Amino acid sequence: MRDDELSAELLAWYDIHARDLPWRVGPTARQAGERPDPYRVWLSEVMLQQTTVAAVKDYFHRFTTLWPDVGALAAAEDARVMGEWAGLGYYARARNLLKCARAVAADHGGRFPDSRAALLALPGIGPYTAAAISAIAFDRPETVVDGNVERVMSRLFAVETPLPTAKPDLTALAARLTPPERPGDHAQAVMDLGATICTPRNPACGICPWRAPCVARAEGIAAALPRKLPKTPKPTRLGRAYLGRRTDGAWLLERRPETGLLGGMLGWPGSDWAETEPFPAPPAEADWRPLGTEVRHTFTHFHLRLDLWVVDLPGDCIPERGQFLAPGAFRPSDLPTVMRKAFDLARHAFDPPRNAQG
Ligand code: ADE
Repeated sequence: MRDDELSAELLAWYDIHARDLPWRVGPTARQAGERPDPYRVWLSEVMLQQTTVAAVKDYFHRFTTLWPDVGALAAAEDARVMGEWAGLGYYARARNLLKCARAVAADHGGRFPDSRAALLALPGIGPYTAAAISAIAFDRPETVVDGNVERVMSRLFAVETPLPTAKPDLTALAARLTPPERPGDHAQAVMDLGATICTPRNPACGICPWRAPCVARAEGIAAALPRKLPKTPKPTRLGRAYLGRRTDGAWLLERRPETGLLGGMLGWPGSDWAETEPFPAPPAEADWRPLGTEVRHTFTHFHLRLDLWVVDLPGDCIPERGQFLAPGAFRPSDLPTVMRKAFDLARHAFDPPRNAQG
């Protein structure tokens, strides 16, 4: 099958089976040539990096309700945005999201540029996101390659070279198939195919629009592709976190430095996460006690075991680190997942605040 025939088959499938996602326009509008809002495309693509559609949907809804356009997001408070991002992970994305919104508001009159090159110059927009926004929001003939697209290409053309070595070849194959007409729909169609039919395990080849031309299917090796080089096992790191609460119910928290893991997020004061002790002194002088349970959490490159220490702090406590957040100013949902896990484990070790109602 020729490349243009492959793309035509796929677009015909997409016209019927495109997923109904909150950042897309509906089928009628799409067929009338209406494009989605670049702000929503950008926001969704940043959220979808290393994150599933299912995990992103609620966050996307909350963000677009709170901040319906890029100007509104640009004017938001940093802590509010970081708090709303909490739980999605890869927090550099949230810091860059704000930088990018502010750059678009300040330097581009509140409109996203349409070319891949101009998009690439914005904070937090790398080659993938630039191509995705340019193709999806502006229908530019850019090739969009994520993990789904790599898997689909590796099977369609039976590429047996393992990932990541195969990346340039898979990108070249995806580029070859990108049509001059409807490149944005084509890009989304390949991703939808990878997400719904050409899945990592048990691909549904019987209902695939590319079942006839798919070389891996003909060879009976679709489910085994793409091949991958063995991963190095993740090390386990150890750390300590101190959860202190003042008698009035205020929690002792600390905003993490802008750079590094969980940068800019709220968290419990504690140690760096090294493979071994020693642990630093607590953030305030008091009779800290070990909780006896630890938090386990897995990051991209390591497993973490976090040892928790708790204490009730006096009303006149002056901490050496961190700041007290009054009960009304503290939302557990503002914490990144590892810190939230610590809170959920430790909260039961505290009595109700002394002045609590009811
Ligand atoms: N995954 C990431 N971006 C996507 C998109 N625009 N459509 C479908 N799946 C995606």
